[in-house]
Amino acid sequence: MSGHGTPIPMTSRPCGPLTGDAHVPGDKSISHRSLILGAMAVGETRITGLLEGEDVLDTAKAMRAFGATVTDHGEGKWSVQGVGVGGFAEPDNVIDCGNSGTGVRLIMGAMATSPITVTFTGDASLNGRPMGRVTDPLALFGTQAVGRDGGRLPMTLVGAADPVPVTYTVPVPSAQVKSAVLLAGLNAPGQTVVIEKEATRDHTERMLQGFGATLTVEDTDDGRVITLTGQPELQPQDIIVPRDPSSAAFPVCAAIITPGSDVLVPNIGLNPTRAGLFTTLQDMGADLTFENMREEGGEPVADLRARYSPDLKGIAVPPARAASMIDEYPVLSVVASFATGVTDMQGVKELRVKESDRIDAMAKGLRAAGVQVDEGPDWWKVTGLGAGNVPGGATVDSVLDHRIAMAFMVMGMATQKPMSVNDGSPIATSFPIFEPLMERLGAQIVRSES
Ligand code: S3P
Repeated sequence: MSGHGTPIPMTSRPCGPLTGDAHVPGDKSISHRSLILGAMAVGETRITGLLEGEDVLDTAKAMRAFGATVTDHGEGKWSVQGVGVGGFAEPDNVIDCGNSGTGVRLIMGAMATSPITVTFTGDASLNGRPMGRVTDPLALFGTQAVGRDGGRLPMTLVGAADPVPVTYTVPVPSAQVKSAVLLAGLNAPGQTVVIEKEATRDHTERMLQGFGATLTVEDTDDGRVITLTGQPELQPQDIIVPRDPSSAAFPVCAAIITPGSDVLVPNIGLNPTRAGLFTTLQDMGADLTFENMREEGGEPVADLRARYSPDLKGIAVPPARAASMIDEYPVLSVVASFATGVTDMQGVKELRVKESDRIDAMAKGLRAAGVQVDEGPDWWKVTGLGAGNVPGGATVDSVLDHRIAMAFMVMGMATQKPMSVNDGSPIATSFPIFEPLMERLGAQIVRSES
């Protein structure tokens, strides 16, 4: 788990062109869901291309604690022998989800309608994040929760012995909340309905349908209405996990800002609920091309080529696009520093409750690197200095947040002076091969402060 070991200071130095193929790891969201739904199916689910990052490994450990047999067959191939909907056993010990908000919130949903008592904890970052957004709707099923002040972990949930189905309008744009309610609805009788005003990533809906649940989605004036029929027998699946667009964002953005670069990222998932960054980069004038568009395992996939783009312009990022790129704002703000003009990011309050307060963490680091950032509760603006003009030369606190650490490592590839982070160890939560992959492309990342 990150944040429990020795910090790993890292420095990224200005480098020459980045070139070659970047085979990024499997999608984190789909990896968590593959393990959890596999554990709730009857029979063996086989998974290829699972992300073997710490977050997902913590979810694998948790599924074992609930009674599923989870086996690592090597080279990204895993299997899960599920215990069926409602078949979770009570774990002998506390479930530690490490750094993972997705892990803990989805698992809370999955156990909430079984008559078991479970205590959850995590690292210092996760234990500071709000869980009320999940335990509030779970209470409607009959689940009880007791946690620390502010609805924070460690927290104990007592699953509902006689769950009732629920109709719930998600008050914040959150796929984790939506998914927790749907997973809880699996073991409730009748129909559970989730309404979301803004569409968020829809992997749970797609995968539930793939596992054989009866689930419909309707776009209405009130938003996306998702209706799930409870107590299905989920059928085990063979899942190919697409490569993670949120991880692809790092080599793609690095190529865009580093002179002479030309990088191909093969096989990345391009689900429209995840691909907002790439549209935004194109709007800014980035040289991106999508090759070989196809569908794999129910998800759109393509090979993405990114080339150095010296004439980027700041833009106003449409707030309606926020959910489809919510994890990509840290690295977008780095690209914005190399554009000319202001990049205006509005409607992004959720960034304040991620693995860190990402507006605060990025603003501090960007300012230390010589870039002007203005911010408010749900917005921030980066005033770009243009290609080649960003000073750099700062050490930034990565605040136990993998995406903050990786964003500043990308920045250091094109600043005038190197960029450092005090701790790169959280990178292992989502992108354990980040350093060797970036180095093979031509990056210069070393494990020490400059
Ligand atoms: C995720 C949903 C998003 C995202 C996270 C993964 C998921 O969180 O930030 O990295 O897999 O459902 P929210 O649901 O809190 O927006």
